[in-house]
Amino acid sequence: MELQDKRVLLTGASGGIGKEIAKALEAKGAKLLLVARNGNKLEALKNSLEFPHQHEVVAADLSTDEGLEKVKQTCLNLSHKEQRIDVLINNAGSNQFSFLAQRSSPSIELEMRLNLLVPMLLSQSALSWISRPGIILNVGSTFGSIGFPGYTTYCAAKSGLQRFSEALDRELDGSGIRTLYLAPRATDTTLNDRFVNQMNQQLGNKSDSPEVVAGHVVDILEKEQASRWIGWPEKLFARVNQILPGVVSKSIRKQQDIIHHFINQVHGK
Ligand SMILES: NC(=O)c1ccc[n+]([C@@H]2O[C@H](COP(=O)([O-])OP(=O)(O)OC[C@H]3O[C@@H](n4cnc5c(N)ncnc54)[C@H](OP(=O)(O)O)[C@@H]3O)[C@@H](O)[C@H]2O)c1
Repeated sequence: MELQDKRVLLTGASGGIGKEIAKALEAKGAKLLLVARNGNKLEALKNSLEFPHQHEVVAADLSTDEGLEKVKQTCLNLSHKEQRIDVLINNAGSNQFSFLAQRSSPSIELEMRLNLLVPMLLSQSALSWISRPGIILNVGSTFGSIGFPGYTTYCAAKSGLQRFSEALDRELDGSGIRTLYLAPRATDTTLNDRFVNQMNQQLGNKSDSPEVVAGHVVDILEKEQASRWIGWPEKLFARVNQILPGVVSKSIRKQQDIIHHFINQVHGK
């Protein structure tokens, strides 16, 4: 899709990756509807962009029915004004690096909701207000393809998001709406606390800047590529894990002491 003058709804816009996506899309001439809970941060982001008057913000907690309804009504109003959203980017997400045994039920439910159910419900909502041609882009994670200790819930949610994206893209084949999936690897944002960063360093896991991820977002939208995994060797491991999961289990077993050490650090903080 050519992004010039396209209207893009971006969730998680004020986060580390979201801000860079907003800048990269503006540079391509897109008009943005920026969504997150904290309205002040959204206004600050909007005012930091080159053409603030072209963009709008919606402060909404997407984990609530009210938040989802607020976004839906905003998008329906735009479509009544002939200003339909052309692209929905489901980027809002969160995680907790923790043993499953230590998690509360509400925290598991919230993580599943924000990373999986919210993108599903927003995608469903989008069917009533998105343009044709239109694109839904779901931001997943390498952990959607590789089960990793300490991230059981997050892995389950992002894995579900990948399969949801694939199924919806096939379901809507020929309708003019594409559903794409992008899986970043570790990225330098505050989503990862210092223990996760230290663990990644010790394990030799590479981390990307949010600008790199934003560049991939623009590229996958322009090429309308169904799915993409960012980073080498992560994209290879994602495939090996599908065919030979035992090989990946063996390699993670060797890292277990380091991983458990850092999960325990998080629990002790
Ligand atoms: N950072 C990484 O290592 C990494 C790696 C792979 C994939 N990802 C994925 O990339 C996406 C962006 O991550 P990030 O690193 O940019 O995270 P981040 O910096 O923590 O930003 C999260 C964004 O989501 C918003 N948000 C959180 N809860 C929300 C809610 N209930 N309703 C509405 N908005 C909410 C936050 O704003 P408010 O707090 O104001 O609501 C913020 O704008 C996520 O889907 C994440 O899973 C990240």
